[in-house]
Order: sequence, then structure tokens, then C-alpha cells
Amino acid sequence: MKHFRVHRRFFSFVQAVSLCILPVLAEAQNLPAPADRNQLSDFVVQQRADKLLKQMTTDEKIGQMSQIFVFGNGLSVEERIRSGRVGSVLFMTDPAQINHLQHVAVDGTRLHIPLLFGLDVIHGFRTIFPVPIGMAASWDPQMVERAQSVAAEEARAAGVHWTFGPMVDIARDPRWGRIVEGAGEDPYLGSAMAAAQVRGFQGQYIGSPNHILACVKHFAGYGAAEGGRDYDESDISDDQLWNVYLPPFKSAVDAGVVTLMSAYMDLNGVPATGNKWLLHDVLREDWHFKGFVVSDNEAVKSLQTHGFAKDSTDAAIRAFDAGVNMEMALGKTAYGENLPEALKAGRITISQIDDAVRPILEAKIRLGLFEHPYVDETLAKKTINDPEHRAEALHSAERSAVLLKNDGGLLPLQASRYKTIAVLGPLADSKVDTTGSWVFAGDSSETVTVFEALQQEVGAEAHVEYAQGVQIARKFPSPFDGISKVKKQAAWSESQSAEEFARAVQLAGNSDLTIMVLGEAQNMSGEDASRSSLALPGKEEQLLEAVVATGKPVVLVLMNGRPLDIRWASEHVPAILEAWYPGTQGGNAIVNLIYGKAVPGGKLPFTWPRNVGQVPIFYAHNTTQAPSAQDKRYWNEESTPLYPFGFGMSYATFSFSNLQLSKPEVKTNETLDVSVDVENTSEMAGDEVVQLYLHQQSGTSSRPVRELKGFRRVSLSPHEKKTIHFTIGKDDRTYWSSATKSWVIDSSQFDVWVGGDSTASLHGAFSVLP
Ligand code: NOJ
Repeated sequence: MKHFRVHRRFFSFVQAVSLCILPVLAEAQNLPAPADRNQLSDFVVQQRADKLLKQMTTDEKIGQMSQIFVFGNGLSVEERIRSGRVGSVLFMTDPAQINHLQHVAVDGTRLHIPLLFGLDVIHGFRTIFPVPIGMAASWDPQMVERAQSVAAEEARAAGVHWTFGPMVDIARDPRWGRIVEGAGEDPYLGSAMAAAQVRGFQGQYIGSPNHILACVKHFAGYGAAEGGRDYDESDISDDQLWNVYLPPFKSAVDAGVVTLMSAYMDLNGVPATGNKWLLHDVLREDWHFKGFVVSDNEAVKSLQTHGFAKDSTDAAIRAFDAGVNMEMALGKTAYGENLPEALKAGRITISQIDDAVRPILEAKIRLGLFEHPYVDETLAKKTINDPEHRAEALHSAERSAVLLKNDGGLLPLQASRYKTIAVLGPLADSKVDTTGSWVFAGDSSETVTVFEALQQEVGAEAHVEYAQGVQIARKFPSPFDGISKVKKQAAWSESQSAEEFARAVQLAGNSDLTIMVLGEAQNMSGEDASRSSLALPGKEEQLLEAVVATGKPVVLVLMNGRPLDIRWASEHVPAILEAWYPGTQGGNAIVNLIYGKAVPGGKLPFTWPRNVGQVPIFYAHNTTQAPSAQDKRYWNEESTPLYPFGFGMSYATFSFSNLQLSKPEVKTNETLDVSVDVENTSEMAGDEVVQLYLHQQSGTSSRPVRELKGFRRVSLSPHEKKTIHFTIGKDDRTYWSSATKSWVIDSSQFDVWVGGDSTASLHGAFSVLP
């Protein structure tokens, strides 16, 4: 026994030595990553970062904490890089230009530290996928993971190392334009989408080949901007913050996200970018986040604008002290201008600076940038033109679409019945609008519009003709129009507008079928794209009504990033397909869906209001007084949504039955199994998203009427039946209570509903005992 112990000790000594030596050897020889690289590389990475830190001057360290835009500086970017005052550059998409600046950093600086190139790769780089709200509507995290890994591969091939995504802000007010960039209103769906996107961008570990760093944003509460006005302050109760707004961020951190972006706005009176409670206590102390935080653009200097910091020095010190490692700025950084003095004055310490810089260096080391700072420009060309990527984009667009209405089974179209087809609307043949916002490197010539795809589909079998009908435009231009180089159509005169309108209506009247593609132009949705109305913009509604009045069948395809006021359409148009901004393959996907080559299976990731006056409206509300009048909270109109959260139709039909709970009672820390049978009751194959909702009947706090706690997208052949299982664990019943200011798990009665949307009626119940 003793002998064995000696042996074992000796063995662990050898093991410990080799664990220390192997990484050093690997580093020295630049060996490829070993299988257990994650564990071993921590040692290598830390050693290497510390070694570098020891050689760096204070200015070089602060330089690493500065990120600048490649444009709009008024300062020479190259000169600043050469003087070691830049750690990261954003907004470059061209591999040759990226290589050029990287050479300036690597060859032209004392310690040869490579730059990190960042870009908003939000829903694709060259191959554009549906906008994030659309991808969330797929309720298919695996698909979303694949889409973001394609985006990562293309971006990395072009020399981009870091995306400012995913955006995981919960949004319950669709006036806010950035609802398009997130996963909607629900923390459970939002958390699943957050983790999937982090995995997609980053791969299995930081530095996985063909992957990039993710940056979860905007930490935190940006989606609750007052009045839906972008950049305005958020006032969020601690109940809502912990239970609704923070969970997707926590999910991203648990999935290993390496960076976070601090938000622009005040959160409950303290700017997020100077919020030590948020950036330190929650993020680092509570969640054990080990990566780094970058500010949103100019957000450090803005601390002064907020009436928070007294001057630029105070702004730099407070952001730094709160936990912002890197400052994103257009011109000079407040960090570069002020932190050296602050250090001399003893207001910050060098060890604080080292702690801030270390994770930035570690990220560069993990990405392998010291060994491979440059991108192979020939590879870039091949990778971004990969036809497999277009196939993924097509698949994603098909899976993201949501069928909102299909009276009389108009869809899928019977091709032989429609020999003349009118395609109408300002979005029907617009490539930029088909791809949506945040597209900087996409090649619009590759984008397929609905009109183009339809012509291709019907060939000589039918005559397809297009008329725009109306023009739509923002009253105030978007600051992004210049950046995304959108070609503007000249505004029509009044008489021309009348002619175009009449021509479109006449075309519809002379055709067997009309497909109208309406919604918002891409620049009406996204950053700086808030609206005080949800109406169809311009004269789209009038055009729709005039076309329906022709009596010919109409299919309405919507392209938008927020729910719109489509009350009239929901009553008078037989078929409505929500396509979002579907991306490069958008037209093909829509045509496949309307001709039945693909079957819609997406579900709404938000509650669709009837009109803007109902906003905010979300399914997981609490009930208080007079619950029986929940649908009549306004005296002029129903207070129910137009379409509930989780809603979406298929060409197939489904039924749910046999809800089984493994136990009628559980203890607080026990789990239970819930199973349900879902059956395709039609002759068509299709997908159903099985959704599980929970309601806690009593507790330390009052709880929402129902909350999503499980979902699965299931494919079913005609008449196929499947049994789906969900596990309800302790975490699903834990919530943050503002009564105790702590996480609680109560003993209570619980309701369970399972079905195809948030109004699911198949019910079960169980008790949680103390
Ligand atoms: C400002 C936006 O709020 C943020 O989401 C984006 O990543 C940065 N600009 C960089 O483009």
C-alpha cells in the first residue's frame, strides 16, 4: 500500500511537471493545438501575457486598451498604430487593407503586438443570413449556431477576428429599431439563442480554426430604452433586470463568450459604461467572467454627457474603474488622453492597468495572432464564395419565416392555376432591403429578390411582372446610409407617384394572382431606427387595400424587423407570410415557401400587438386585479395581441395529447419529466415547435401568468406521431425576488401547458414541496 502511494505521488509529480513543460514546449515550437488545448493553453496564455506585460511601457498598455474606427478619425490611423497607441481597429472588411495595417502594427512597433480587427458581423459577412430576430423565429438553436459559424468562417477568412455580436438585448417595445438585432421578448428563448450564437462564432474554444471572438452586447438593459427611443435611458426594476434582461447575458457568459460590450444608456440612473455594480460585481464577481469588456462607441466620453462624469479625465477613470477594459472611439480615446496622467497622480494603479490589459493580450494569444497575424488573401476569395454557405443561408431563411395567415389553403400555391402573376411593392425587387441592416461586406449582386426568384421558378410556365407601386422613406435619414453605401432612388413627383400607384393596381387587376412584398426598408429598422408608429410606411397600406379590392387573390409577404400594424391585412388578405429581412437567399426561400418546396415552421419570438398603443405588450405579464377582463383593458379595442408569442402556422396541422408528468409532487431541488405526444394530422410533412410553459401559483413574489421553460422544433411526416420529453429542473423554478432581494425557489402549485404557442391549452399540474 505504502509502495503504491509512493508510486502514485511520483506519478503525479511527473504528470505535474509534464503539464507545466508540455505547454512551454508547444509554445516554443509553435506546435498545433493538442486535443486538450483548452486546459493546457491557460498556462501558456497566462505566462505569455505576463511576459509581455513585463516588457510593455504604460503607454503601450493603454494603447492596447484603445480601439479606433478606421474612418472618421481625423487622425492618421497608421501613425497611431505605429506609435503603439492602438490595440484594435474596427470596421475593415478588405483582407489586403487589413494585412496592410497589421504589418504596421507587427513590423512597426517595438513589441510586435498584432491588432485585433473587429466588425459588426451580425447575420453574415458576405453570405447574408436572416436578421437575428428572424433567426430567433426559427426556434432552432442548432441552425443559428451553424449560420453564425459560417459568418465567422467568412469573416475570419477576410481577416476579421472579432464580431460585435450577438446582441442579446431583450426587447418588449417594437418602437425600438434594434429589436431586429436580438431574439425578441423572452429570456428563455433569448438565452438559447445567445448561447447558440456564441458557440457558432467562437467554435469549441477561443482560437478554434475559422472562428472569431464573439462580443455579447449591450450590457445591459438597452432594449428597455424609454419610449423605444434609441439611446435613451432605461429604468428597469430589479425583478425585471434579473429575471428578464440579464439571463441571456448570463447564458452567453456560461457558453464561454470572451468579450462583452457595455451599453450606451443610463441603467436606473447609472450609465452602463460607468456602472461598477454591473461590470464588476455582477459580471466578474458573481458570474466569474474572465474575458474583457469593450465600451460601445464613444460611450466612455459620453459619461460626461450623461451628467455623470465631471470631465473627460473623470469619464476615463470611472469607466476604467467600473471594468471597461477597452474603449471604442471614433477619434482620440479618453483612455489614451487621460489614464497616463491618472496613473501618475495615483488615481489608478499599474496593477489595475495590467489586470485590464491582460485579457486583451490573452485573447490575441488564444487566437494565434502572434504566430499568424496575417490573412491569406487568396483563401479569403475562395471561402467567401462557398456555395455551401449559400445553401445554409437558404435553409436558414426558409426555417425563419412565419406563416401568419393562410385562408382557404391559398398557400402553397398551385402553380398551374396562376398564369399571370403581379409582383408588387417597394421591397419585392430590392436587394439591399432583402438583406437587411448591418451588411457591410455582403455582395448585393449575389442577393436574390422575390421578383427574381419568382421569374426563375415559373420560367416559361407563367408571366411575371413587377411594379413598385409606392416609395417609402424615412423622414430623417439614417446615419448608416452612407456607411452601407445604399443607392437612393430619386423621389417620385406627385404625378409620378399617382401613375406608379395606378399602374401597380392595374397590373394586379390584370393578373391571376398578386404577391405583395411590403414592410419597412432596411434602414427603418436597426440602430437609430426607432419609430413612433407601427403602421405600414408611406402608402403601402393604401396600395394593399386597392389591390385587394381588385378581387384577385393576394399573398402578402412581409419584410421587416419589428411587428407592424397589420390589423386590416389580418382581416382582408388571405395569406400572410412574415419573411423578416431574409438575406442573400431571401427571394429563393420565399418562393420555395409559397410554392410548397419548403414548409413554413417558424414561430413569433415576440407578441405581435394590434397597434402601437398596446406597446409594451408581452405574454409573460403578471395578473393583478380583474383577470377575467384581461382582454378588455382598453375600452376602445381588445387588449389581446394580434398574434400571440410563439405563434406560427404550417401547411401541415398538428395536435397535442397525452400530457404526462413523471410525478405529481417534487421537492424543491428535484426534477420532473414532462412528456407529450405531438401528431401531424395532415397529408403534408411539416415542423411544429413544441413549447412548454410554466406558471407558479403562489410564492415570495407574484409570478408571470406563464413563462416559456422548454421548446423543441420537431419535423413530422404525414400522420407521424412523436413523444417529446422535457425536464423541469430546479433552475426552471428559481427566480429573483424583489421581496427578499435574492434568488428564491418556492414550494407552490405549478401549472404546465404544452402546445404550439403561448396560448397552449393542454394542461397539467404538480406541486413543489418544501
Ligand atoms: C454602436 C452600436 O451600438 C454597437 O452595437 C456597434 O457594435 C458599434 N456601434 C460598432 O459598430
